[in-house]
Amino acid sequence: MNQRQLDEYLDYLRFPSVSTDPAHKNDLVECAEWLAAKLRAMGLATVVHPTAGHPIVVAKNEHRPGRRTVMIYGHYDVQPADPLALWDSPPFEPRIADDYVFARGSADNKGQHFAHVLGIEETLRERGELPVNLILLVEGEEEIGSEHLEQFLATHRDELRCDLIAISDTGMVAKGQPTLSYGLRGVAAMELRVKGPASDLHSGIYGGAVMNPATALVRLLATLHDDEGRVAVSGFYDTVLPLEKWERDAWQQVPFGDADFLNVTGAPELFGEAGYTSLERTWARPTAEINGIGGGFQGVGSKTVLPSEAFAKLTFRLVPNQQPDDILAKVRAHLQARCPRGVRVEIDCGHSGEPYVTDPNSPSSMAARRALQQAFPGKDVALIREGGSIPIVNTFKRVLGVETLLLGLALPDCRAHAPNENFPVENFFAGVRLNRALLNELAHPTQ
Ligand code: BES
Ligand code: ZN
Repeated sequence: MNQRQLDEYLDYLRFPSVSTDPAHKNDLVECAEWLAAKLRAMGLATVVHPTAGHPIVVAKNEHRPGRRTVMIYGHYDVQPADPLALWDSPPFEPRIADDYVFARGSADNKGQHFAHVLGIEETLRERGELPVNLILLVEGEEEIGSEHLEQFLATHRDELRCDLIAISDTGMVAKGQPTLSYGLRGVAAMELRVKGPASDLHSGIYGGAVMNPATALVRLLATLHDDEGRVAVSGFYDTVLPLEKWERDAWQQVPFGDADFLNVTGAPELFGEAGYTSLERTWARPTAEINGIGGGFQGVGSKTVLPSEAFAKLTFRLVPNQQPDDILAKVRAHLQARCPRGVRVEIDCGHSGEPYVTDPNSPSSMAARRALQQAFPGKDVALIREGGSIPIVNTFKRVLGVETLLLGLALPDCRAHAPNENFPVENFFAGVRLNRALLNELAHPTQ
């Protein structure tokens, strides 16, 4: 174990780089500058690009003709730490316990991409150069849909030209089990506001005479699914790519099944679309989720009020070949057509990202599989898709014309986005080894 490497990782975790919260804007700038200073000290030509949102850090070695150009992508932004009270230690004061690092961003994504940074540093120290032309791109808006990165890709297309992209921002199916993801779900966000009376009303004086917006909202939300867990929006499944037989067979062998789903989630029982396993439901089937719901009295005790409005935040997880804009339009039409009498519905569409799937047997994927095998010896590489989203991945394909390899290092119980997020020290150092193996393999992907 290299204590200096671990200490630097912990320093990186101390920045509360919460991208969704304007109060943290400066923390993101400081975090980006800290990373840039590290990359410059390693000898990489590094630029911190301001955007209308949070900065993008781009670092390169000296590019030579005739070598493959590999982009490594990561994100230094993190999700909010809330609910704070449920953390066993402060989210931005990293703590090591039982060989796990606990902090917001430890797994998603600082630990995963910083391991690559340190792998690059080791190779540069030992060999004075890398086997490939490297572009390291670390952004600060992944957790809010990478809003400004797409424009950045378009305007810097020439300097970002590469042969392929590698990302460690996904999961491993079990500890020590090398895992290559060949697909991601997409995501589309929407906020729904149901408005009724002009102001809150006494529920005794007026209750019964006007529609309650909270009642209208839950009735409306209940129309999104049928009793079997399918999304009941007309046309929602029209373009869904069916699972292939080889995938269903391969996923039967994945050492993470329904019992593990129950265990990790703590849910009383599993529930989802009939005819699919939990892995199939999360990796290859689309969903509609209510992320938050509110309105009316939320304080201690009781209050007899009829709220003037209620809201819900929704996201839809999409699979190939669903398109976010098409799905949002279908959902909007569905909700508007079912707006209960006596209220108005306002709908705002938010960020979105397209789903992604690539060939796990392409020469580059095979190179990634060999690298994973070296970093985690002894087990065959599991080939999976992921339920989560990395919105920019399909944009990389569209704008730069390149495929992305997803070499995950997070464990199923890493608690990404939740209290007590964690990352095993062992996986952090495996990530350093993985980067070294990966750059060597990608230098000659067809061998
Ligand atoms: N690292 C995750 C994506 C992920 C999580 C992939 C789990 C595979 C398994 C990423 O940081 C993330 O959380 N993305 C968001 C994107 C959204 C906010 C636009 C997501 O999936 O919710
Ligand atoms: Zn995340």
